[in-house]
Amino acid sequence: MELAITLDANAPLPLHQQLYGELRHAILSGRLRSRQRLPSTRMLAQRLGVSRITVSQSYDRLLSEGYLQTVVGSGTYVCDQLPDDLLQPEAVEPILPQPRSPISLSTYGERVRCTPFTLQAEPQAEISFRYGRPGLDDFPMALWRRLLVRHCQTSDTWLDYATDLQGYRPLREAIAQYLTRARAVICNPDQILLTNGTQQALDLIVRLLIEPGEWMAIENPGYLSARRIFLSHGVQLLPIPVDESGLQVHQLPSTQQHPLRLVYVTPSHQFPTGALLSLPRRLELLAWAQHNEALIIEDDYDSEYRYGSRPMPSLQGLDTSGTVLYLGTFSKVLFPGLRIGYLVLPPALVPIFAQAKWLGDRQLPNLEQRVLADFIHQGHFESHIRKMRTRYDYGRRVLVDALHTQFSDRAEILGETAGIHLMVRFHLPFSDAEIIQRAEQVGVGLISAKPHYLDASGEKSGEESGIRNGEVMWRREFIFGYSELSDTELQEGIRRLAIALLGESSSRFSSLPSQETHSDPESFADCFSPHISQDGDRL
Ligand SMILES: Cc1ncc(COP(=O)(O)O)c(C=O)c1O
Repeated sequence: MELAITLDANAPLPLHQQLYGELRHAILSGRLRSRQRLPSTRMLAQRLGVSRITVSQSYDRLLSEGYLQTVVGSGTYVCDQLPDDLLQPEAVEPILPQPRSPISLSTYGERVRCTPFTLQAEPQAEISFRYGRPGLDDFPMALWRRLLVRHCQTSDTWLDYATDLQGYRPLREAIAQYLTRARAVICNPDQILLTNGTQQALDLIVRLLIEPGEWMAIENPGYLSARRIFLSHGVQLLPIPVDESGLQVHQLPSTQQHPLRLVYVTPSHQFPTGALLSLPRRLELLAWAQHNEALIIEDDYDSEYRYGSRPMPSLQGLDTSGTVLYLGTFSKVLFPGLRIGYLVLPPALVPIFAQAKWLGDRQLPNLEQRVLADFIHQGHFESHIRKMRTRYDYGRRVLVDALHTQFSDRAEILGETAGIHLMVRFHLPFSDAEIIQRAEQVGVGLISAKPHYLDASGEKSGEESGIRNGEVMWRREFIFGYSELSDTELQEGIRRLAIALLGESSSRFSSLPSQETHSDPESFADCFSPHISQDGDRL
């Protein structure tokens, strides 16, 4: 056998491992063919100028891994069938399957197909008022990393399957304590089911508590992603209007007139209007649900951030008859990629929800649950909320101030006392699409509230809308997220908007750097290359 083998006595890798690597490579590359006989250990050792033990050790390893085989009385050979070959599928020409007929879907599959959606791009403008994300640049990354590393170094139990159907108990304890203290939720850890965010909690609720074809009430406007879940399950939706005090509870029909199984509400910061459901309405809603044997889904997605007034007690905390299913999420307070939320359930519903959750996805990732439990127990969670509340409160005031200054009564501000977004209703003679387009031209990204309205009457009714040149004028309502923007960006964004929508230049921000003060909307537009805007239909 004439085989070039290079060994380096000074290399850190022991000689037997080097020889093993060289021989293995020779076999895999075909320089040593199957059934080819190898020299005896004595001969190869002599030829390479190494000890016989070195050669034996590398042969032994190749034998144990199935690259070589010995034939008694004859010698050592390269195996017929190599282990690596066994792992490789045979190369075949890829042929796309050609089903003879379309694959039929289940009823659920058909419904999903009939309510298609895409995760649409958000505005990519230089200053984007997109909403729904916290200020991720202020997330305490070093601290989170330290907690992660500590768990990786000190235990390995998180590598295994979880044994708790409801989720990691210390995390449920931490959440129960927090909710009792901060949100006046009445619960213990046994009532909590940890979920993959609000999305999964809503999906479980409709799968377990309502039949396709049955009715539930939703806020109008309301959270689009929730609506999509309900529709995909074939639930019939009754939209109930919202005003500045939240859901108009008196518009809920009695179940004798109209059977309703569930009501979905965002009482502490109505999405998207930001309205706070007043205490009388909270009590009225609870009384209605008890009287009509309906259940209330309370989505408390961002009420950690309430400015200037005491938080209103949760519906769940006011309830005395177990009619409220309370949902929370860490998407807005920490980060949405964490995918951890929670469902506080009436005790009788816990086992069935836990089983259904387990059937769907078995469990949440163990490591993140442990890190989050530490994060809350060690006090970091609430201090992060305090810090972020100060930041958002400042941004919110800058935004409100800029809107007042630039637009005066042509921009009506709604729902600014909580959360991380507010809503603006423009009193301007433009359609939503025109407003978005004009904003784009000055490098500002806006998202219309339009997709969050359900019914056609919502599109056409009301003093806020009208018909111009045959086109339905929408309400001109836009959701302004402010959590990701600096005060300079917020001011600059609104200043540009004023130029784009009012056709005026503003000298009121004279303290801003001079290159940011443009007077001509046309030439200003040329300075930016905005992206295609969407109609605001985002999740
Ligand atoms: C009303 C409402 N609920 C819940 C969420 C968060 O959902 P998840 O926990 O699935 O991230 C959002 C996100 O935008 C929301 O607007």
